[in-house]
Amino acid sequence: MALTTLYVELLSFACLLAAIHGVNGRAVNQFPEDFLLGAATASYQIEGAWNEDGKGENIWDHMLHEHPEYGNNGENGDVACDSYHKYAEDVQALKDLGAKVYRFSISWSRILPTGDLDVINQAGIDYYNNLINLLLENGIEPMVTMYHWDLPQALQYLGGWPNPILADYFLEYARVLFDNFGDRVKWWLTFNEPYTFTRGYASSGSQAPSQNAPGIGDYLAAHTVIRAHGMVYRLYDEQYRPTQNGKISITLNCDWFEPYNDLEETLEAQERMFQFQLGLYANPIYVDGDYPAVVRERVDNNSRAEGRPRSRLPSFTEEEKRMINGSADFFGLNSYTTMLVISAALGHSPSMDLDCGVLRIINFTWPSSSAIWLKVVPWGFRNIVNWVSSRYPNYPIFIAENGYADTGELDDEGRISYYGQYLAELLKAINEDGANVIGYTAWSLLDNFEWNSGYSQKFGIYQVDFDSTERTRTPKASTSFLANIYRNMSVPEEYFQ
Ligand SMILES: *[C@@H]1O[C@H](CO)[C@@H](O)[C@H](O)[C@H]1NC(C)=O
Ligand SMILES: *[C@@H]1O[C@H](CO)[C@@H](O)[C@H](O)[C@H]1NC(C)=O
Ligand SMILES: *[C@@H]1O[C@H](CO)[C@@H](O)[C@H](O)[C@H]1NC(C)=O
Ligand SMILES: *[C@@H]1O[C@H](CO)[C@@H](O)[C@H](O)[C@H]1NC(C)=O
Repeated sequence: MALTTLYVELLSFACLLAAIHGVNGRAVNQFPEDFLLGAATASYQIEGAWNEDGKGENIWDHMLHEHPEYGNNGENGDVACDSYHKYAEDVQALKDLGAKVYRFSISWSRILPTGDLDVINQAGIDYYNNLINLLLENGIEPMVTMYHWDLPQALQYLGGWPNPILADYFLEYARVLFDNFGDRVKWWLTFNEPYTFTRGYASSGSQAPSQNAPGIGDYLAAHTVIRAHGMVYRLYDEQYRPTQNGKISITLNCDWFEPYNDLEETLEAQERMFQFQLGLYANPIYVDGDYPAVVRERVDNNSRAEGRPRSRLPSFTEEEKRMINGSADFFGLNSYTTMLVISAALGHSPSMDLDCGVLRIINFTWPSSSAIWLKVVPWGFRNIVNWVSSRYPNYPIFIAENGYADTGELDDEGRISYYGQYLAELLKAINEDGANVIGYTAWSLLDNFEWNSGYSQKFGIYQVDFDSTERTRTPKASTSFLANIYRNMSVPEEYFQ
């Protein structure tokens, strides 16, 4: 072999190596060694047993019992996946999946039926103790969401999240959780998707508690939630971290917003959309203790123009800003899809939509799922992970939700394709772009009760037979696909071509 040929071959070998290795020397399709891969659920969507063993009524029980027409065909979470009785099967399903972490939520009214400390329901505490212990026996880390939308109805009778005193109630509930579970639970999330659940104070008919106070109730609720989050973080940091040594954060939802065109006003609209949805929460917690300037200015301006003596968006005190600034150990992110955005005056006065002034458009040429809003746009996932990584650079990211909806078939090729592509884009963000991502919990472990869509949209890695009283769990094709990824800690190379 001539020397020149050898040289050329060495060169192409080097190029090949560069192609399959990311910036950090790891193969592009390989997760970091200590990366946590797992699956997620939420109490109201899976537990059922809505009034068993002393559980109190929550706002979803209440809304869907009073207004079955707000649900899909009158469906509700009364039984759901019956995980209250079948949690051992859920743990087995996680084990078969090769999950290292299980993100589930605790039902506040199962622990504190009145929302307050006057009644502590031991049966509720026992249920979560059994689940947590079984997870740990099977080598699966519990990650607990304290609030996944199911407020005790007793606290809604006080006005719910727009009432500032709710932050105190939440703090006391959190203390019960740390006292009872914190010796074993090392991953905590205070709230799931406040952007979504605060809409329950902006309109009727969709999110519980279905209170129609747009542009006011939603901001008041957000304000209490951010304060409550900060208070619980400080409580953990000061009183529990020294002995329990876990991590605590919040999980915020944001899809990628792609500008409809490259006009300056469209790029400004893109930035506004990020700030009204994600920055509203992330700026106080991860940047400086306060709302983003563009949000502050636009809501103040509109409030003034409406002749109001105060802004519809409340203000934090200096002390609250110091308490909230930096109140997280990592950045929890839920993300599913991409939408196009363009500047537009839309929405009624007052409303957050009008304050934000951005129209979100679905690009119907993008591949579909069974949910109209969920288009399959893998490159957008890489973009949003990189956006979060560059805007909030000091915090590792944990992807707390990401997944695909279909109609529940066992041969779920669409879900396999979604996870293959999205996880490949996530790995490019980690290994090529340098994003610090530490974990991923797929939504969802089980087909479950999908809020207003009832049982019509299936996000599960496992099928659940809702026609059978057994609520039989059956693996889908995606179960073994993900199990191979989870065991191997790598995504098949074909998803990188
Ligand atoms: C917020 O916290 C960060 C880091 O903890 C600090 O650098 C920054 O100065 C704080 N901002 C304000 C306004 O206090
Ligand atoms: C707020 O109102 C002032 C005066 O009407 C106007 O000059 C400014 O552009 C407005 N700002 C925003 C963000 O709308
Ligand atoms: C919609 O998606 C198609 C297919 O990816 C793309 O060609 C088109 O440019 C998109 N439209 C907009 C406005 O971005
Ligand atoms: C694990 O990855 C290797 C290399 O990418 C592949 O050959 C193998 O089939 C994978 N194993 C499983 C169980 O997926």
